[in-house]
Amino acid sequence: MAHLSPENLERAAQLISLYPKDRSALIPLCHLAQSQDGFLTEEAMQDIARLVGVTPAEVYGTATFYDMLHTEPVGTYVIAMCTNIACLLNGAFELLEHAEHRLGVHVGQTTKDGKFTIEEAECLAACDTAPCVQVNHRFFGPLAPESFDALVDDLLSGRLDDVVPPHGVLNRVERTVGLVSDRENEVAQ
Ligand code: FES
Repeated sequence: MAHLSPENLERAAQLISLYPKDRSALIPLCHLAQSQDGFLTEEAMQDIARLVGVTPAEVYGTATFYDMLHTEPVGTYVIAMCTNIACLLNGAFELLEHAEHRLGVHVGQTTKDGKFTIEEAECLAACDTAPCVQVNHRFFGPLAPESFDALVDDLLSGRLDDVVPPHGVLNRVERTVGLVSDRENEVAQ
């Protein structure tokens, strides 16, 4: 029995149909599975392998290559903290130290309540807002310890629910125009 939900299996078939080769949909399907569970479960990777005709090991190998894909559970909010040069010069390491202290975890760890994971990131291409972070790929910065605490409070209270969806959800609006499949009837679910 499939781990992906019936809706996501249908969406997977649509995604696969957009590519000349099934395996080209591997990464979009990883994001789809991650939006369902918050990370890529072993069962989801087996589904993906079956759907695109590769081995589960190939799915795992691809998923572990990319920072945006997680094969282990992460928090509802993954905070990626840039410590590259512009952020570093503007206090990124002090901010990171503060974040670890505030959340009670080190880089790579998840808080006990499952809310937050901290990651150290390379340049996020938002150097003009250094030091900056991404929360589930949404930008925040420049941040100081006080504004970091306010950000955490806002996330916990739900005040940012419209801005930051749970980890794994990249977009809330599905594109319905511009992508045309001529394989729709060929791809089996
Ligand atoms: S150095 Fe931090 S965003 Fe570029």
